[in-house]
Amino acid sequence: MKIEYKSASVSVDCDILVVFQDGSKKPIAVKSPYKALVEKSRKTNTFTASAGSTLFIPYGGKGSAKNVLFVGLGLEADLTLEKARQAGAHAFSKLTSEKMKTVSFLIDVLGESKNNDAAVSRAHAFMEGLVLSSYKFDKYKKKDPKKEVSSFGPEKVTMVSKDKKLKSDLTFVTKDLKDVYESVNITRDWSNEPSNYGTPEYYANEAVRIAKEHGISCKVLGEKEALKEKMGLFLSVSAGSDREGKIVVLDYHPKGAEKTVALVGKGVTFDSGGISIKPSMRMEDMKHDMTGAATLFGAAILAAKRKVKNRVITILAFCENMPGGDATQPGNVIIARNGKSVEIINTDAEGRLILADVLDYAQDYKPDFVLNAATLTGAVVVALGKQCCGLMSNDPENTEKLLQIGTEMHERMWHLPLFDEYFDDLKTDCADMKNSANDGNGGTIRGGIFLKQFIRKGTRWAHMDIAATAYGMGHIPYYPKKGASGMHVRAVAKFVAEFV
Ligand code: BES
Ligand code: ZN
Ligand code: ZN
Repeated sequence: MKIEYKSASVSVDCDILVVFQDGSKKPIAVKSPYKALVEKSRKTNTFTASAGSTLFIPYGGKGSAKNVLFVGLGLEADLTLEKARQAGAHAFSKLTSEKMKTVSFLIDVLGESKNNDAAVSRAHAFMEGLVLSSYKFDKYKKKDPKKEVSSFGPEKVTMVSKDKKLKSDLTFVTKDLKDVYESVNITRDWSNEPSNYGTPEYYANEAVRIAKEHGISCKVLGEKEALKEKMGLFLSVSAGSDREGKIVVLDYHPKGAEKTVALVGKGVTFDSGGISIKPSMRMEDMKHDMTGAATLFGAAILAAKRKVKNRVITILAFCENMPGGDATQPGNVIIARNGKSVEIINTDAEGRLILADVLDYAQDYKPDFVLNAATLTGAVVVALGKQCCGLMSNDPENTEKLLQIGTEMHERMWHLPLFDEYFDDLKTDCADMKNSANDGNGGTIRGGIFLKQFIRKGTRWAHMDIAATAYGMGHIPYYPKKGASGMHVRAVAKFVAEFV
């Protein structure tokens, strides 16, 4: 999707006009080329302008477009940025079903009754919802050569504002929307890739290619290098697969950077469970088990596109969890990079194992903060449902910051405790710890407390368990109905940018 900004109206298939509602649940007609049409719909009760409602009118009257789409925003006093974002998504869906290819979004009506700042942030959120809706994963579908190429949804969206004062803000918004669109869709593409194509090697090559385009330096460790690094836990997970595990290390290092944030992602390209094999029901979803890595990669790319001031080191640990002949067996004891021993009780608790070694590796860079993301536990879906991710941390100040950013961007997070006593459940006679306990209680926190054993004294750290939100988020209108959501890319990128 192309996004642009113009200070005069353009000739398009369809104009988008957002409309507020008054106390009597009727649309308010403000100054616009469609004022008379809104007034008419007020009388005929064809459109109430409630938040997210739409009315497509095939002839746009006095405007420069062939058609007009009214999009309701509800009562102005009740408007939140998330409501604006969701309204943008509803607009996208209507424009798609009406086959509108070029559209313009009339921004000035947003500032009629309020100040310009409100107009810009509302327009930004609306457009964000619209562009985030523009995603389809259909690369493996056979194209019908007889059908003319028709892409999905509008191809070009022009934001139109005649207000000269908004020029610099809207120029910035246009660029940022493009950056968000590209970065979030990289995350979605990665997550949706089937694991027969989306192998550790594939992601390593893609990371190198995309990093190069953004001036980020990048190196890849294979299993030989991981062995040199004594990453016993990482290698123990990859051992059951014929495909080689890869660890990608990206270093975005702008001149004069004062702080370093390390992002550490779980990239299990397929999680069969290993010897503790999973049931076959929905096992296909386990191609998404690398979404922690995909999310942090998307966030790192977004941060680089935005030229953030902090240094960002992104470490992505890719491997498959398979039950091959060399696979780790329950009862095996494995030595981690940091020297601690782990008794493997359940080979399906593999994410914490690979993260333990790469978290240790990340701390060699002496980062000011370490943030990891992982589809770590099924338990987080039980605990929190599909509205937020689980957040665990040893640093109250940045926990607060992450929660606040999550709320602001509607990429919500919820804080769970990591009391030391939770570690009691992971004690065992034959090693320093075991990778899972004997019952299913507090599964998400146990994952977090396991990771904490690999965080050095003085390192500030947070862990996001994104197993519930990584895919299947169609209840939020700007996420695809099925498959990867791309949630939390924007929030992590913002955290990285604002970290002090
Ligand atoms: N990849 C899974 C977690 C998961 C479950 C992600 C559902 C997405 C949806 C993880 O590796 C896993 O299997 N965890 C186990 C841990 C248990 C054995 C301690 C789980 O959650 O059951
Ligand atoms: Zn697993
Ligand atoms: Zn897993």
